[in-house]
Amino acid sequence: MNDSTPVDPESNDVSRRNFMTKFWSVIIGGFVTLTPLVVGLTFFLDPILRKKKAAEASGGEGSPGEGFLNVISESALPDDGRPVFQQIRKNVVDAWNTYIDQPVGAVYLRKTESGAITAFNSECPHLGCTVSYLESANQYKCPCHDSKFQLDGERTNQIPPRPMDELDVKVDDEGNVWVKFQSYKIGVAEQIPKN
Ligand code: FES
Repeated sequence: MNDSTPVDPESNDVSRRNFMTKFWSVIIGGFVTLTPLVVGLTFFLDPILRKKKAAEASGGEGSPGEGFLNVISESALPDDGRPVFQQIRKNVVDAWNTYIDQPVGAVYLRKTESGAITAFNSECPHLGCTVSYLESANQYKCPCHDSKFQLDGERTNQIPPRPMDELDVKVDDEGNVWVKFQSYKIGVAEQIPKN
C-alpha cells in the first residue's frame, strides 16, 4: 500500500459533518428526555420536602422532641395552681404552601402542688367550643352547653363524653415549657387524634 495515496478532502469533510450531526443529536435527545423527568421529580418531591422543613421549623430550636412547641416560661405559671390560657401557634403546611405562625388552638397550663406542669387542650370534647376557666369556682366550664371539668381535667357532669384532653409536657433546663399540641375528635368518648 502506498502511504502517499492522495486523501479525498471532501470525503473527510463529510465524515466529520456526520459525526457532529450524530453527536449533537445525542446531546439534544438526552436533554429533551431528561428535562421533563427532572421537572416532574421536583414537582413530585417539593410538597414532601416543604412539609418536612416546616415540621422542623415548627418545633423550633431546642425542641425536646418531634411536635413539641415552646409555649411559655415555667416562671410565668402561678405557684398557687391557677391555670394560664395560652394560644398555640405553629407553621401550617398543605400540599403546596407553608403558612407561618398560624393559630391552631389553645391550652391551659398549670403548676400542680407537686410542682409538675400539666397542659390541657382548651377545646371542649363535647362539640368543640373553647372551655373557660372560672376563677370563682376554680374549675373549667364550657359556655356552650355547660360541660364542667375539675382542674385535673376530670368531668364534673356527664355532658362531655370524656375528660379534657391532656397533652404531653416537657420543661427544659432553661425553664421553657414545651407542649406536644394535639387536637382530638369531638363528641366521642375515645381520645382519637384529628390528624
Ligand atoms: S361544646 Fe362544650 S358543652 Fe357543648
